[in-house]
Amino acid sequence: MDKDGKYLKRGVDYPIIQGKRTLPGKYYHDEKIYQQELEKIYYKFWIYACRAEEIPSSGDFKLIQVGDESIILVRDKSMKINALFNVCRHRGTQLCTEPKGNFSSKSILCPYHAWAYELDGKLLGAPLMKEENGFHKDNFTLHKAHVHEWEGFLFISLATTPEPFEVQMEALMGKFSEWNMAELRIAHHIRYELNCNWKLILQNYQECYHCPGVHPLLSQLTPFQSAQHDSSKGAVIGGFMELTKERGSMTMDGEAAAPPVYDVSGDDLQRVYYYSVFPNMLLTPHPDFVMYHHITPLGTGKIVNDCYWLFHPEIINDKQAQKGIISAVEFWDLTNKQDWTVCEQMQTGTKSMRFDRGYYSGREDILYALDQELLKALGHDNPEEDGE
Ligand code: FES
Ligand SMILES: [Fe+2]
Repeated sequence: MDKDGKYLKRGVDYPIIQGKRTLPGKYYHDEKIYQQELEKIYYKFWIYACRAEEIPSSGDFKLIQVGDESIILVRDKSMKINALFNVCRHRGTQLCTEPKGNFSSKSILCPYHAWAYELDGKLLGAPLMKEENGFHKDNFTLHKAHVHEWEGFLFISLATTPEPFEVQMEALMGKFSEWNMAELRIAHHIRYELNCNWKLILQNYQECYHCPGVHPLLSQLTPFQSAQHDSSKGAVIGGFMELTKERGSMTMDGEAAAPPVYDVSGDDLQRVYYYSVFPNMLLTPHPDFVMYHHITPLGTGKIVNDCYWLFHPEIINDKQAQKGIISAVEFWDLTNKQDWTVCEQMQTGTKSMRFDRGYYSGREDILYALDQELLKALGHDNPEEDGE
């Protein structure tokens, strides 16, 4: 917002930002910088992991890949969710390789020498090992990461002492409570495997300068000049765009896919919000559903992007309502693929020996803010020289 409390408009009348340059190309390709990102961001910040509804029962688990680390997100007997490092305390073997499932024995068994752990990480038993000579089961609990649930979304932090969730996610606190997202359910999921750096997806998500050319259909439903941002500092940045169609939504025909969810009302009935939850989640609440992306970096130029659609459970179970869900999924799948194409081309282009740094237009000011957040986290004061 500006000093008078008005929203800043990212429109055609906004001038080019003097001297605001993009990140140098090495930030998308350099292995050293990627390792710094893992250490200083992915192993430190709160990062998105999965929905609580994905592990609803005792024993349910899902593996979460964070850089070189694997975390078992598991619901224990008391229904508490634990984030356990997927590493045996005996000799370091990876305990679990299934991406998700249920520990039906209610324990986690190491495949090597059969040490067994409870679902809260405590060592249950180690064959032939007596509790003597300094070996005490209590000292061999699996290492744990921190877990925080917000609106049905589970976040984890691998830091020993993370910053409080509410501090990192300040701009999210109290935001979107009308959607009652904890009660929404996954209606659809598409996994995209992409050849680009994770940051290019965040950048792409936060500007609509590319929309007229890349997304002709989206531009009819929400004109790119309607983009406004209401949080432009810190780990959570975002804003909204206005829907052209009265009570419409982002679907193939622009009609709402379902009635508004829970208490969504007033201006929010005509808005689609775009929030990047740095570093690995993009949250898009519509009046009638919520779409979100979960980004998993797998290298400098490789990511998995899991895209989910959340709907009201009654809509998911209503046969008549399936058309709306399909239309929302089709629209975003089409739009996503249009975005992925340009992101992958940017990944290739920024590797050129002739590319050093680009220039931000006035409609990309929030990307500059995003870059500053990254550089601050990395401790880079001079991006042209840092990371060498
Ligand atoms: S490494 Fe796990 S029991 Fe030996
Ligand atoms: Fe786009």
